[in-house]
Amino acid sequence: MISRGPQQQGRILQSNPSRKFLAGTVMTKEEIIRKQKQYLFPSISTYYSDPLVADHASMQYLWDLEGNKYLDFFGGIVTISVGHCNPRVTTKIKAQVDKLQHASTLFPNETMVALAEKLAQITPGEISCSFFSNSGTEANETAIQLARMHTGHYEVVALRHAYSGRSQLAQSLTAHSTWRRSLPVPAQGIVHALNPYCYRCPLGKTYPECGVACAKDVEAVIQTTTSGQIAAFMAEPIQGVGGFITPPKEYFKIVFKIVKDYGGLFIADEVQTAWGRTGKRWFGIEQWEVTPDMITSAKGMANGAPIGLTTTRPEIAASFQGLQISTFGGNPVTSVAAKATIEVIEEDRLMDNADTVGSYYRQGLESLQEKHQLIGDVRGMGLMQALELVKNRNSKEPAPQETTQFMEECRKRGLLVGKGGLHGNVIRTSPPLNIAKSDVDEAVKVMDEAFAAVSPMHAGSASR
Ligand SMILES: Cc1ncc(COP(=O)(O)O)c(C=O)c1O
Repeated sequence: MISRGPQQQGRILQSNPSRKFLAGTVMTKEEIIRKQKQYLFPSISTYYSDPLVADHASMQYLWDLEGNKYLDFFGGIVTISVGHCNPRVTTKIKAQVDKLQHASTLFPNETMVALAEKLAQITPGEISCSFFSNSGTEANETAIQLARMHTGHYEVVALRHAYSGRSQLAQSLTAHSTWRRSLPVPAQGIVHALNPYCYRCPLGKTYPECGVACAKDVEAVIQTTTSGQIAAFMAEPIQGVGGFITPPKEYFKIVFKIVKDYGGLFIADEVQTAWGRTGKRWFGIEQWEVTPDMITSAKGMANGAPIGLTTTRPEIAASFQGLQISTFGGNPVTSVAAKATIEVIEEDRLMDNADTVGSYYRQGLESLQEKHQLIGDVRGMGLMQALELVKNRNSKEPAPQETTQFMEECRKRGLLVGKGGLHGNVIRTSPPLNIAKSDVDEAVKVMDEAFAAVSPMHAGSASR
């Protein structure tokens, strides 16, 4: 078991045992939870029946307010690329805060330009021109806006099970009823094609005999539900919130040709899949050997500092009409955080680490699948790996309650994992890219115990 408990935390103040709190934190856990309920929107989604109040973190570990230490295998929703509060990033952030904290896009500044130049060196093809904003939602808004201006077309094809963000447009690109519930009026001009979900093939077929028929649905959708001229196709290389749905290797090449045939731009939503997460390559879409017209990103780009990126070829960027401003876009502090994050990934060869440690982790998860009936599917790439939990492997009935229980059991043992999927039955994991095999051993051991604890009905040999 991962070491936990107040006695191990140097920062715990024990002078008042009835009100233990950590240095620098003035509220108790109960106060924070009560004030959250009172002062924040109730719809904000949180994990665990007994909420985990985060206090501080370092590299792959996070501590709650009670001093419990957790191995963080979700990385703050696929965001902590190089470890929590990595000193090689925070030192640069601190120096920048003292030098120039804000300039706005009205005043060119070195930090924003240096980041854009760095991006031009690592993005695929001729992509070299960037627009910075504050979140994945804004990055996707900008991408669709630009694709419409550039092509003169309006309609956009997205995929079912996609998650694209929280604005009206981004929610309309999203294809999960759960995340569209607060969308009174969907944005116009968005259609959804079938997604390449091999474990639950929407066409009832099996790969590879299927001939990747789902890819051809993109064409059918264009022909039957649009004017036949599209502005863009937008997809996540691996659908993140959808439950790390990983397309077969031929998928995006087939789709790319269709998108070009109908006049659209191919936009890769790399909010979760960029920055080496999938192993060996900077961007997830590169795993499918496709060069997109545009890439959007956020999350792991600045290791936890809020940033959004829309990047494309110069001639496409030139179509952005009218004056554009983003008050916080290209902020000096977040620009420095992003460049420092990218440099750590580069200097420490973390894309290779994501590949090597990711393969090792995948083997561990597959060995759990052999042992535990609950695990219907193991999927993902690099250090982006998921387990889809089912009540029965033949019927594939989703197991959302067991998924929640499993997360609780992991938490009790000091491991944080995430959740996703249309039915909330997919365990998502995306640890920092610099974890070691020993961290994987620890995580797999905890998961093994957690599965055994979840339901005696499901425990035992998978061959039974
Ligand atoms: C693939 C993808 N796109 C866009 C977004 C929206 O990003 P943000 O929450 O930063 O607005 C998310 C967030 O989870 C995402 O996973």
